[in-house]
Amino acid sequence: MSAARVAVYPGSFDPITRGHEDLVSRSLRFADKVIVAVAVNATKQPLFSPEERLALIREAVSHPAVEVRSFEGLLVDFARRAGATVIVRGLRAVSDFEYEFQMALMNRNLEPALETVFLVPAFDLTYLSSSLVREVARYGGDVSQLVHPAVFKALKQKFGK
Ligand code: PNS
Repeated sequence: MSAARVAVYPGSFDPITRGHEDLVSRSLRFADKVIVAVAVNATKQPLFSPEERLALIREAVSHPAVEVRSFEGLLVDFARRAGATVIVRGLRAVSDFEYEFQMALMNRNLEPALETVFLVPAFDLTYLSSSLVREVARYGGDVSQLVHPAVFKALKQKFGK
């Protein structure tokens, strides 16, 4: 019997969007277990605390093969400890490419056994990012179609709307 394939899907998730949810579902097509890994030191001034982000992800993505964890330090160290062999990242547009390519090569340099896999999100979610969601929500725009209802509620509470 072959070993379970564990994929780690890292990010800031500040907050999780429908785009992230889509990538988790796509990852489950080839991974036996997906660990959504919230980097606590990646964003200097996040809108949501690590605990809030973890709780929102757990509400938005509830699946027996999905684990939601936070990590500090290097992603490759976390992935190694978690027994992951794959790093999943989404590629939305050409503008993502340079940063993602750099990160993938650096991670490979640090840990050659880890393979980065880029997934293309659903067409209608390709324009979506956490930063745009935060900005639109901050100024009272409607993001209800772009995030899980729990995230929508949390954004409304944050911005006092
Ligand atoms: O959602 P983001 O902010 O684009 O995710 C970036 C993230 C968290 C994946 C990246 O910053 C990261 O892996 N941080 C952990 C520290 C690390 O390993 N840095 C070296 C990456 S080559």
